Amino acid sequence: MTQAKIPFNDLSRGTSALRGEIDAAIARVISSGWFVMGPEHDALERELAMYVGTTHAVNVGNGTDALELALAAVGVTSGDFVVTVANAGAYATTAARLLGAFPVYCDIDPQTHLMSVATLEAALALLPEAPKAIVVTHLYGALAPVEAIVVLAHKQGIAVVEDCAQSLGARNAAGAGGSFADVATTSFYPTKNLGALGDGGAIFTKSDDLATSVKRMRQYGWESKYNIRHAHGRNTRLDEMQAAILRAKLPFLDAGNSRRREIHGSYELATPEHAKLVNQSSDSFVAHLAVLTSATRDADRQKLSDAGITTDVHYPIPDHRQGFPDFVAKAMPLEVTEWAAQSVFSVPMFPELSETETLRVKAALGSL
Ligand SMILES: Cc1ncc(COP(=O)(O)O)c(C=O)c1O
Repeated sequence: MTQAKIPFNDLSRGTSALRGEIDAAIARVISSGWFVMGPEHDALERELAMYVGTTHAVNVGNGTDALELALAAVGVTSGDFVVTVANAGAYATTAARLLGAFPVYCDIDPQTHLMSVATLEAALALLPEAPKAIVVTHLYGALAPVEAIVVLAHKQGIAVVEDCAQSLGARNAAGAGGSFADVATTSFYPTKNLGALGDGGAIFTKSDDLATSVKRMRQYGWESKYNIRHAHGRNTRLDEMQAAILRAKLPFLDAGNSRRREIHGSYELATPEHAKLVNQSSDSFVAHLAVLTSATRDADRQKLSDAGITTDVHYPIPDHRQGFPDFVAKAMPLEVTEWAAQSVFSVPMFPELSETETLRVKAALGSL
C-alpha cells in the first residue's frame, strides 16, 4: 500500500484546531460593525507590542509594505543604498526598489546563512558611500546577530531594520527579535508562524517618531482625518477581521513554535553526513522552515519525493540574479550566497505535522 504524501504545509489543520476561537473572533467583528481599524486592530497592536517587548506595533497590509514603510521612516529615499542579504526571497529588495533605493548585497555566513558582522563589514568596505539603512533578515526563523550589527551600524549613522517575518517569537537573553533595531517588521502571510487567513503585516519600534511616521504613511499620509501632512502616504491597513483572527491565534504562537522546534529536533537526530540542517533547535530559532544543504540536492529531493515527502527550495534565485527590469545589482562577492542557492532545500515543517509524519520524514532523511 502506498503511503499518503506528506504535505510541505497544511494550513487547514491549524485552522481546524482553532476553529472555535477563529469563528468567535469573526462573529465578534461582524456584530461590532467595525471592519477597518477598529477595536480589534488597536488591541492587536497593544498585544503584539507586549509580545515583542517593544513600545509600538503598527499594523499594515502585508510584510512587504511593512518593510517599505520602515525603510521610508528611517529616511531611505530615491538613490540611497540599502544593504541586505540576497538569499531571503527578495522582499527587502522589492521594498527598497519601491522607494527608488538601490539594494546592495552582503554575503551570508556559511554556517547560519544569515548576515554576520564580518559579512556586513566586508560589504560596507566596498561601497563608495555609507548606505542609509541595513535590513537584517532573521531567515528561516533564526535570529541574526542583530545587536552587534546595530552597534556597528549606529557608529556610522546607518539605520537598522529587522525583518522578523519568519522569526516571530525567537528570543535571546536580551529580548525578542523585533525589539533590537531602530524598527522591525513582520508578515502575517498565512504560512508564517503567526499567520492570518489572508494578508497582513506589522511594524515594531520603540521610537514615538518612527511609529507616528509609519502610522501616517499607512493611511494616505494623514496627520489627522483628511489632512495630509506626510510624504509617501498610501493605503496599507490590516482589516478588522484579520486583526481579530490574529488576536485569537497569538496566545498559541509560543506553543506552535515549541512544537516546531520539537519536530526540528527529531530531524536533527536523523540527518546524514552529506546533508546538513542549517539550524539547531534553541530559543533563538522558531523553526519557520527546516532547511538542509546538500551537494546532491536534486537527487536527495527525488529520494524524499519517492518516499512521499514534499520538499521545496528557499530560495532558488538570489536577489542579484532576479530579473528586475530596472535594476542591476552592484557586483559584490557573494560566493556563499551562490553556493546556498544551489544547495538548500526544505522539508515539511508546521506545528500540526503528526508524530507519524515526523517519524516518516526523519526516517527518510536518515536513509538519504
Ligand atoms: C523574510 C520575509 N520578509 C518579508 C516577507 C514579505 O511578507 P508579505 O508576503 O506579507 O508581503 C516574507 C514573506 O512573505 C518573508 O519571508
